[in-house]
Amino acid sequence: RTVAVLAGGLSHEREVSLRSGRRIAAALRDAGAAVDEWDTDAALLGRLNSSRPDAVVVALHGGEGENGAVQSVLELLGVPYVGTEARACRRAHDKPSAKAELLRAGLDTPAWVALPQSTFRELGAAGVLDALVGKLGLPLMLKPDQGGSALGAQVVRDAAELPSAMVGALAYGDTVLVERFVDGVEVAVSVVDTGEGPVALPAVEVEPGNGVYDYTARYTAGLTRFHGPARLPDETAERVAAAAVAAHRALGLRDLSRTDAIVDAGGRVQVLEVNVSPGLTENSLLPRAVAAAGRDLGEVFTRLVDRAVA
Ligand code: DAL
Ligand code: MG
Repeated sequence: RTVAVLAGGLSHEREVSLRSGRRIAAALRDAGAAVDEWDTDAALLGRLNSSRPDAVVVALHGGEGENGAVQSVLELLGVPYVGTEARACRRAHDKPSAKAELLRAGLDTPAWVALPQSTFRELGAAGVLDALVGKLGLPLMLKPDQGGSALGAQVVRDAAELPSAMVGALAYGDTVLVERFVDGVEVAVSVVDTGEGPVALPAVEVEPGNGVYDYTARYTAGLTRFHGPARLPDETAERVAAAAVAAHRALGLRDLSRTDAIVDAGGRVQVLEVNVSPGLTENSLLPRAVAAAGRDLGEVFTRLVDRAVA
């Protein structure tokens, strides 16, 4: 059986994806699979047609690898793949759409406004600030409406920081997701479905050395402390796990996902986002969750591949 791991691509998370791809290819090989590693570029279609792998593992992050575009190509060619189908990718990858869906499913997510660049131009920084602070208060969390790895994301604690944070987020897209900032314990819950329905792995708690879980803190070994399982009371851990499974189902995700959430001071679980294509690097959360569950990454992905092919 031949598995092609797709990594790289054109998004801002290209480097992260290359690391995810290497890691998952190695894990699958250790588990006995024949693995090809492909950078995802213009040659993809031809390669898929000529090599016809038995299954594809999409280890792409951001952009076309997470918004359903690559998944559509795989569906068009009839190549089985691990991960969420194109249609659900499209909705889940767009943070405002996903948050609306989470609310409909009865989950908590921080209050938000999706702010297009045109509104920022019309109202000006001062007008936008008044409207946002009036609706959401301070501090605020700003991020691009699509994309991951905290690129373009920034906390705004002081009104004066808003214009530069807007510019930072707009560098990655035309719309900024502005959320009420929620303080608390940051946890990530990976969900896998290797045949028995979606199951939450132990929550992994994130404790960044300098307090902010930004791009550098995510991908530089030693900068962040991870606690797997998270240091939560059993009852809270159960609610966090239930929220992740509910989010996975609500967004129609398949095979695997990772829900990032904050447990606030009152013990409320607030879902920040649900990742369609969770990072798989040496420093990423899903591999840590698999280890915390006493499972092997290669075994889990072999099962996912088996399911894709079946
Ligand atoms: N977007 C990165 C890869 C993650 O969520 O892990
Ligand atoms: Mg993310």
